[in-house]
Amino acid sequence: MSDDRRRRVAVVGATGVAGQQFLVSLADHPWFEVVALAASSRSAGKPYVEAITEASGQQRWACEEPLPESFAGQSVVDADHLDLSAVDLVFSAVESDAARALEAKLAPEVPVISTSSAFRYEDDVPIIVPGVNHQHAVLVKRQQRERGWKGFVLPIPNCTTTGLVVALAPLTAAFGVRSVVMTSLQALSGAGRSPGVIALDVLDNVIPFIPKEEEKVQTETSKILGSLEGDRIVPLDLPVSATCTRVNVRDGHTEAVTAGLGRPAAPEEVAEAMRGFGAEFVGLGLPSSPPELLRVTTDPYRPQPRIDRSLHDGMTTVVGRIRSDTVFDHGIRFVLLSHNTKMGAAKGAVLLAEYVVEQGLA
Ligand SMILES: NC(=O)c1ccc[n+]([C@@H]2O[C@H](COP(=O)([O-])OP(=O)(O)OC[C@H]3O[C@@H](n4cnc5c(N)ncnc54)[C@H](OP(=O)(O)O)[C@@H]3O)[C@@H](O)[C@H]2O)c1
Repeated sequence: MSDDRRRRVAVVGATGVAGQQFLVSLADHPWFEVVALAASSRSAGKPYVEAITEASGQQRWACEEPLPESFAGQSVVDADHLDLSAVDLVFSAVESDAARALEAKLAPEVPVISTSSAFRYEDDVPIIVPGVNHQHAVLVKRQQRERGWKGFVLPIPNCTTTGLVVALAPLTAAFGVRSVVMTSLQALSGAGRSPGVIALDVLDNVIPFIPKEEEKVQTETSKILGSLEGDRIVPLDLPVSATCTRVNVRDGHTEAVTAGLGRPAAPEEVAEAMRGFGAEFVGLGLPSSPPELLRVTTDPYRPQPRIDRSLHDGMTTVVGRIRSDTVFDHGIRFVLLSHNTKMGAAKGAVLLAEYVVEQGLA
C-alpha cells in the first residue's frame, strides 16, 4: 500500500442501515481510517453502541456481520458540527431531505461520496456505478470550478438502479438498447430504519408501491448509461418503464427485465456480452472490487436472494433466465439480483471512493 492513498474519513448517518454497512465495509480498510461517526442530534454525544440501542434495550444493528469492535465505543458526533479540518473525505448515508442541507455544507470543504438522492439530478453531478460509468467522475472538477468548492458531491444511484445498469451496460455496448421494462422485487433493508417497513404490513404480502422509486430508476438509468461530452453528460435516449414492489426479503433486490435491443441477439450472445463485462475496471485491483461485476447463471431457478446475494461479498450482480422475448423488436428477457446494501449502497460507495482516490480526484 502506498501512503498517498491513506485518507481520514467520516461516516455521516453512521447509525442507519446504510451507515452500518459502511462501518462493516470500512473496518480494517487498507486506505481509509474512520475518524468520525456522525448522525443526527438524537445520537450525538453517545457511544456508538448506545446510539443504536433502543430504550427497550434492543440493539438496532442490521448487518449480518457483527458490529466491528473498534466502533462500538466511539462517540457519535452531530453531523452539523463535524470537524472538517480532521477529515479528508466523507461518506454520507442520510435520508435525502436531511442530506440536501448537510451535503451542501460539507462538499465546499471535502469530497462527499453519497448514497442519497439529494444532488443526483443536478447537471454537474454525475451518478456513478463503479465499473459502469466511473469515467463520469471527472465531472467533479466542473463542480469545483463552477461552484468554487474544494470538495465535491459524488452520489451513487438508488439501489434498484445499480443492478439494472450493471446488466444493461454490456448490452448497450454490444447491441444497443432501445427500451426497457423492469419489475422489481425489493428487499426490506432498502427501506432503511426510519420509517422502514412495518412487519405487519409486509408479512405474507407484497407491497406494490415504493414512493419516488420508479421515477428514480427511469431518470438515473439514462444518466448513468449516457455519454460524457466535454464537461456534461448526455443521457442515453432510453425509455425505462419500471414497476417497483417491496417483498418479504431481507437483502437483495430482484428485477425482472425485458429489453428491446438495437439488433437481433440470441440469448447466448447476450450471456457472452455480460460475462466479460467490467474486466478492465476489475483489473484495477481496488480493495473493495469483486473479481467479477456480473455473473451469468444457467440454472433456471436462479438467481435467488438467499443463495446469490452474497456472491463476492454482495458486489457481483447475478443474472439468470436469459431468454428471447417476442413483444419487443429484438427482445430479450432476464432476471437479475443485486445486493442493495453492499454494491447498491455502502460497499459500492467505498469502491467509488477508492476509484476517485486512485485517480487523484480526492
Ligand atoms: N438502505 C439501503 O439499502 C440504501 C441503499 C442505497 C441508498 N440508500 C440511501 O442511503 C440513505 C440512508 O438510508 P438508510 O436506509 O440507511 O436510512 P436509515 O436507516 O433511516 O438511517 C438514516 C441515517 O440518517 C441519520 N440522520 C437523519 N437525519 C439526520 C440529520 N438531520 N443529520 C444527520 N444525520 C441524520 C440518522 O441518524 P439518527 O440515528 O441519529 O437518527 C441515521 O444514521 C438514504 O438517502 C437512502 O436513500 C439506502
